[in-house]
Amino acid sequence: MTARTVRNSLVGLVAIVAVAGMAVLIWVWLQPGPTGFASGKPVDLDAYHGRAPTGVPVELARADLLTRGRYLTQAADCEACHTAKGGKPFAGGRPFALPFGTLYTPNITSDKETGIGQWTNADFLRAVHQGVARDGTRLYPAFPYASYTMLTDEDVLAIKAYLFSLQPVHSENLPNTFRFPYDQRWLMFFWSMLFNSNDRFRPVDGQSAEWNRGAYLVEATAHCGECHTPRNAFQALNNRLKFSGGVAEGWNAYNITSDKGTGIGNWTQEELASYLSSGHAMGRGTAGGPMAEAVDLSFRYMTPSDIAAMVTYLKSVPAVKSESIPDHLADAASPVHSSGPGGNPIGKRIFEGACASCHSWTGKGAIRTEAQLTGSRAVNDPSAMNVAQMVLAGTGPGLEDRARMPAFRAIFTDAEVAAVSNYVTARFGSEPSHIDAADVAKLRQQSDAELTARDH
Ligand code: HEC
Ligand code: HEC
Ligand code: HEC
Repeated sequence: MTARTVRNSLVGLVAIVAVAGMAVLIWVWLQPGPTGFASGKPVDLDAYHGRAPTGVPVELARADLLTRGRYLTQAADCEACHTAKGGKPFAGGRPFALPFGTLYTPNITSDKETGIGQWTNADFLRAVHQGVARDGTRLYPAFPYASYTMLTDEDVLAIKAYLFSLQPVHSENLPNTFRFPYDQRWLMFFWSMLFNSNDRFRPVDGQSAEWNRGAYLVEATAHCGECHTPRNAFQALNNRLKFSGGVAEGWNAYNITSDKGTGIGNWTQEELASYLSSGHAMGRGTAGGPMAEAVDLSFRYMTPSDIAAMVTYLKSVPAVKSESIPDHLADAASPVHSSGPGGNPIGKRIFEGACASCHSWTGKGAIRTEAQLTGSRAVNDPSAMNVAQMVLAGTGPGLEDRARMPAFRAIFTDAEVAAVSNYVTARFGSEPSHIDAADVAKLRQQSDAELTARDH
């Protein structure tokens, strides 16, 4: 090759990279905002004349700072991520197993040495809105600051006041185990530039006060999209497919758009309110895994007016159809597939010995209606991921006032968990699943990391 052809092909390459880069930037720039689907004009909070959508609900309008701070801390569910299994609340150490290593949450109690006791209001605001720690280090977006960035300063500082009113806990932070280049925190500067607008919530003029309150709660405080919205190649939320289903800690966080077949378009307002505030809706299934945890630590403390506002907002989210799940839910044990389970003698034997006493052969639940299997999305999901997770983990701690499902992780092998999961979907769902021992091993590995995080 002559010097000239080398130069020409280099120029060509640079041009291609530049064009591709521009295309990505434009694509990102055109990405709709969180409430971009709604008709009406988004305005700054100061310019909005309706009832304030931010802060605490009307019932608590006159409560003192710490009561308001506690309500907001619960609604934002800071405790779920910042508490290790069996550890002290907010003292950190919960692992997040990601494809490139494990990240541990830090201690956010007011301990001066190991927590955030020395942080000023400005430090705290910068962390929660922009994902920058006190010493200027960039934080990974596993901390959902791209949602929390919409919270008002007043609400973030009420959370800080509440955290600082609790007993400090001395507990060292655990370093993450990210490989190169993922361990380069400064790269998050570019991530934030593209995907974290650092803008406060903008209510939409022309939508009701209740809708705007719901939007603030769902988008900013309760950050539903962090689990339920699929992510793009850069791990940022893809609002073009808003709420059409994501993955959270090895669980499928299902489609919660108003699509009738694969989303929640057919759920009544009462069913949604019941599911969010108690983790269960008759005939719709129960919240398991990360959703159970969110209900238990967060949503069940929300007032009826806030739950109703979230439901109003959710119902307005446009339908997106999921390709990976069938369009209808089986709500009776399937006569067609009951021959299917016949081909799975191990699954059948396990179901008979370990499950049928609570769930019954009809799947309608013996004794407790919470144990109904038919009609639930998890049982109608042909990946069987959440069914296998439920068999491994059971109901977990918390939700003490509800019927419980025992954990079988110590009792069954991966192959047995797979067999009984396939039996359950074939018998009670609309499509049989084909989960195998290797898939279950992966799910088990992830939850093992959680259980043993503090042992090394
Ligand atoms: C979905 C999980 C999750 C939730 C919910 C969450 N955090 Fe975090 N948070 C993290 C992770 C992970 C980190 C560490 C990120 C890193 O190391 O880059 C973090 C870091 C932080 C830090 C930085 C601390 C330090 O020492 O650098 C603060 C402050 C913080 N979170 C406060 C909060 C508050 C306040 C809430 C509730 C409003 C909250 N977090 C909710 C996951 C979460
Ligand atoms: C002691 C009673 C009991 C036993 C035994 C039991 N379960 Fe459950 N199961 C429940 C209850 C109660 C729930 C609802 C949990 C909740 O409300 O959090 C449940 C929930 C479930 C769910 C989630 C359903 C949904 O709505 O998404 C699945 C799947 C499941 N069980 C499968 C099994 C399988 C498979 C076995 C046997 C290996 C089994 N269960 C054994 C009581 C039991
Ligand atoms: C930490 C992750 C996480 C967060 C945050 C979260 N969810 Fe979920 N959600 C899940 C998972 C996982 C499931 C599936 C649970 C199961 O199968 O047992 C689920 C299930 C649901 C379902 C039932 C869907 C169906 O078809 O059965 C609804 C409705 C729902 N979530 C609404 C919400 C709303 C509204 C919010 C915010 C207020 C929210 N979720 C926040 C993870 C999450």
